[in-house]
Amino acid sequence: MAEEASQLPDAPASTTVVVIGAGPAGMTVATLLQRSGIDCVVLERRSRDHVARRQRAGIVETRAVRMFDSWGLADQVLGGIPHDGILEFRVDGRSHLVSDRDGSDGPAARLCPQQVLVQKLTETFLEGGGDLRFEALDVSLHDLTGDRPTIRYRTPDGTPHALTCDFVAGCDGDHGVSRTAVPDGALTAHAFDHGIGWLTVLADAPPPAHPLLAVSSQGFAAHFPRGPYASRYYLQCPPDDTPDHWPEQRVWDALRTRLGDPGLVSGPITDREVFRLRSLVHDPMRYGRLFLVGDAAHIVSPMGGKGMNLALYDADLLARAVRDVVRDGDDTALRDYSARCLRRVWNDQEFSHWLTRTLHDAGDAEPFPRHLARARLDRLFTSPAAARAFAELMTGIDLEAGAAPLEKLSGNLSGNGGD
Ligand code: APR
Repeated sequence: MAEEASQLPDAPASTTVVVIGAGPAGMTVATLLQRSGIDCVVLERRSRDHVARRQRAGIVETRAVRMFDSWGLADQVLGGIPHDGILEFRVDGRSHLVSDRDGSDGPAARLCPQQVLVQKLTETFLEGGGDLRFEALDVSLHDLTGDRPTIRYRTPDGTPHALTCDFVAGCDGDHGVSRTAVPDGALTAHAFDHGIGWLTVLADAPPPAHPLLAVSSQGFAAHFPRGPYASRYYLQCPPDDTPDHWPEQRVWDALRTRLGDPGLVSGPITDREVFRLRSLVHDPMRYGRLFLVGDAAHIVSPMGGKGMNLALYDADLLARAVRDVVRDGDDTALRDYSARCLRRVWNDQEFSHWLTRTLHDAGDAEPFPRHLARARLDRLFTSPAAARAFAELMTGIDLEAGAAPLEKLSGNLSGNGGD
């Protein structure tokens, strides 16, 4: 437990790690550090209730399930149900079931809504005596390249507080403060805009038997489970659309047409937003004693469900690296953090890009790219080797088994990951 800030509001308390953000990245870093006996303080801008209700991703991939299992946390933090390993592709109304099981031993992926994971991580962290401060306002980061960074923030009553620490975990998402604390030019941003819009809809409507991806000449659509009584839908739309362009009846008509399911059962829509499919990678994922984790470092298109799982991967690597330094004085993993994370980030960016292009081009692109995309789907549905490669990418196990030694790779990867 960090020393309590003294009565003098400007007397900095101290801790080993300050974690900024209490989403999947932040709460995973904090919980794994706690399991390692390492002191940390989590600063979250919003209220606990707001964070607990924020619905986003819905699948914890096989690799991440096994990561939590390796920490002895899987039963505590993973809600939802096991994923049966089957994805349904529906092309012009015709169903193709594809396995995303890679045949490896061990627990499989879980259909666990993101807010369930975050709530369970938060409960585990607090039950373990964790120091989690909600409504920490106006967080600012100082002296990141010195030996003891200082993090300042304000409580809702206006009282200023300060914390000094050894390391800062920037887990505050794509619109957070951590990345803005890095001087211009220190990070390189690699961005890609697919030029595709998605309307995403959350509804209290029956989930599908399997996660469903549909290709049609009217555009892409998808239907995913979000718990036993809720569903997440995606509808390709013009990137400049707003939710007002999509009244309820139009949403259900488009879903029934594109999913090829006239009898699709509807339900009350509880959330609706439009976003552009884009990707963004910041390199390196580190500046001095600040380490960027999850969406604070990278954004990937939702295709393939990699956003939250990359955050979990980064968090595991950072917690283990900090443990090595604090317990053994070995900073090798900390120096390799950025390069190791970026290797998986680019792998998953490529997979999501491939799947995004394939499923959109196969529907309504110009003839040549449409034929290319249909050929990729035909190969996926008919070639065991292509199906296995797809399964490995879905499970996230692909890079683990054949992990090339980093020193061989780090020369090829942009970004130093070092001091
Ligand atoms: N100070 C403190 N907390 C902040 C600040 C700030 N200045 N800015 C943002 N936060 C908090 C947000 O309120 C949020 O709780 O940081 C957290 C960031 O969480 P996410 O945006 O969920 O990012 P991450 O934890 O990396 O998880 C990535 O979340 O958004 C989804 O699709 C994304 O599934 C992916 C996952």
